[in-house]
Amino acid sequence: MKTFSEFVQLNPDYLKTLLLDDLRATDFARLDEKKHVYLDYTGAGLHAAPQVREHTEYLNSDVAGNPHSASPSSMSATSRVERTRNAVLKYFNGTNTYTAIFTLNASAAIKLVAESFPFEDGSQLLLTADNHNSINGIREFARAKGADIKYSPINIPSLRLDHDSMDSNLNLRNETVPNLLAFPAQSNFSGVKHPLDLVQAAQDKGWSVLLDAAAFVPTNRLDLQTVSPDFVALSFYKMFGYPTGVGCLLVRNSSLGMLKRPWFSGGTVNFATVQGQMHVMSPGEAGFEDGTLNFHSIPAVGMGLAYIERIGIEVIQTRVQCLTNWLLHELLEMRHSNGRALVRIYGPTSTAQRGGTVTMNFYDMAGHLLDYRRLEELAGAEGISLRTGCFCNPGAGELAEGLTLEDMRAAAALGSSASLSSFMKLMETRGEKSAGAIRVSLGVASNYSDVVRFLEFAGNLRDQTSLSIGVATFDIDSCRVIRDGS
Ligand SMILES: Cc1ncc(COP(=O)(O)O)c(C=O)c1O
Repeated sequence: MKTFSEFVQLNPDYLKTLLLDDLRATDFARLDEKKHVYLDYTGAGLHAAPQVREHTEYLNSDVAGNPHSASPSSMSATSRVERTRNAVLKYFNGTNTYTAIFTLNASAAIKLVAESFPFEDGSQLLLTADNHNSINGIREFARAKGADIKYSPINIPSLRLDHDSMDSNLNLRNETVPNLLAFPAQSNFSGVKHPLDLVQAAQDKGWSVLLDAAAFVPTNRLDLQTVSPDFVALSFYKMFGYPTGVGCLLVRNSSLGMLKRPWFSGGTVNFATVQGQMHVMSPGEAGFEDGTLNFHSIPAVGMGLAYIERIGIEVIQTRVQCLTNWLLHELLEMRHSNGRALVRIYGPTSTAQRGGTVTMNFYDMAGHLLDYRRLEELAGAEGISLRTGCFCNPGAGELAEGLTLEDMRAAAALGSSASLSSFMKLMETRGEKSAGAIRVSLGVASNYSDVVRFLEFAGNLRDQTSLSIGVATFDIDSCRVIRDGS
């Protein structure tokens, strides 16, 4: 294991991020107080203590009521919500060119596009195989309206897009009807950063583009003047931990008119009549914000953005990149005493065009897979929070783990008896394949010691077998396989 000075010698840019160590000691003190190694930033970011303090002070000093009325409490809430909306647009450099629609989370933002996009008979919905299930789910709306659904493949082992296939798929656009391409700016499975110039390339060929930025924006700047998708979805808790329950759909103003809501609700109409059974939708974002907005939490989004701005997203990116570089390097070097590799990493093993999400499986000396559920349990006992499963990204997972269509058909045949255990057992019998993996991900409060603690944990698996580490004792069947999250 490298000492800190050896690590810094290899990653000199880390020294430009030392401000984050000060913040770790003050704003994220709870981590070290609890000796907690948090490695699930792709699942959820962590909030800094001052964000919560500022929000509490606001809540305790302001009288905020249901927005969009003329009372002082209502006007106060409305003005905070609108200030926050402007702050969101400013942060992403979309003032005057984009509309920010507040949603529950990234999934709800994606669903707004899914249900409102004018798919029709013969429309094309083009998805990358590497996508979160919240994007995969668009296909159900598209299919119901007669659209054709196509997946553009990723390559093994890089888990990057196959550019030739993407090029030819983009040429399949049906010129007479609307067509939608949806892809993640950064994979929540492999950390791969997909090329953002695909946005313009697709638009030039007449596609509308939905960019899933949920896993990208916590450690990267998204400048909407440089990359201008028609639609962008994200969750704020992934960026700065707090608040949960607020996400955003950013819509390019020129594309807003093409979205047609399939229903109306309180808050989305300027006029509705029961006798006439008619309604007139509200213009702009209001037509997409169903019911009462989360007006207490939304102001905390502005506080979170300001916190990130004070640090500088580039500083966070640099730190995550340095730590990821080292993590990858050390994991790849880990060997059992017989020389066999301990770890298999899915996706890129260098930091070029990849973020701080690293997905892997561990193998014993004989090359047999170690049960990731047991490893999660062992990590937990050491105060390490990581994530296991397929991370709601079946496309990347199936390819990375070598699961075939036949394997998936066999799994589907398990029917309602399907559980993680039965799925894993089935895949074991089909060539000792893994039905999931371990994911660690880094973020704003990650430091050298976090990576040391994880590498020590991983190193302790050297020369271990399933027999020696034991079997998983908790039952996570109810929340995995089919409902596996984030
Ligand atoms: C790439 C990506 N897209 C979408 C989502 C869905 O986000 P949410 O659960 O906040 O709706 C996630 C969550 O992990 C994600 O990583």
